Amino acid sequence: MSITTSVMYRLRYMRVEDIPQVVEIDRLSFPMPWAARSYVFEIRDNNAGHMIVVEALPQHPPAGGLRSVFQRLTAPAAAPLIVGYGGFWLIEGEAHVSTIAVHPDYRGRGLGEVLLAGMLARSMALKAEYSVLEVRVSNESALNLYRKYEYQIVGQRKNYYRDNNEDAYLMHLAPLDEAYQTRFNERLKSLRERVPYGDLLTQQPA
Ligand SMILES: CC(C)(COP(=O)(O)OP(=O)(O)OC[C@H]1O[C@@H](n2cnc3c(N)ncnc32)[C@H](O)[C@@H]1OP(=O)(O)O)[C@@H](O)C(=O)NCCC(=O)NCCS
Repeated sequence: MSITTSVMYRLRYMRVEDIPQVVEIDRLSFPMPWAARSYVFEIRDNNAGHMIVVEALPQHPPAGGLRSVFQRLTAPAAAPLIVGYGGFWLIEGEAHVSTIAVHPDYRGRGLGEVLLAGMLARSMALKAEYSVLEVRVSNESALNLYRKYEYQIVGQRKNYYRDNNEDAYLMHLAPLDEAYQTRFNERLKSLRERVPYGDLLTQQPA
């Protein structure tokens, strides 16, 4: 018996119980993944740290007819699945994007953008004045994503990544002022038209 489902996404703060799924995405995404304890530290102990996840919430189609009602009643409830995560540190007006990754099976659906936009929206709500990040010089997908949100390359760190001695670009997005917020809101509007997601980041972390 097959049941058709569509997917809705939800952005929320990361919890300690999310860490095994996050660590798996990290392992699939980076040559030098973070240790699980680094996530525990960021969530529990680092007051400057803001860790978020995007999760997929399977939706059953609306009931239509007896057969469909039966299917809905007997289908096991699907648990939300974490499909991406991100983090930033907010220190004295600087929002430093520390990490961002989407599960390989879920890339190219706008979820990296949902994560970055979520972090920027939170940064601005918390009065960040500018944002910074480092990115591998060869990472075209990430570079494009950051450019889309107006980050600019301001420097290059030689041999920054220890696994292959690759350089990092240092990127800045400044200022996060009213004019940027207006352009950001336009981008967010078109993102929301493209990607079905809810945003719980305005609620306090559990
Ligand atoms: C970078 C990453 C987070 C992007 O996530 P994603 O969900 O695939 O990206 P989205 O679908 O939201 O795309 C957003 C934008 O990113 C850029 N982008 C994404 N995939 C791309 C690709 N394959 N080629 C070129 N640009 C791409 C585009 O600008 C895109 O905007 P568009 O849809 O208007 O063209 C994802 O590729 C990833 O997890 N990579 C591994 C981890 C990583 O490198 N993180 C960055 C560390 S600095």
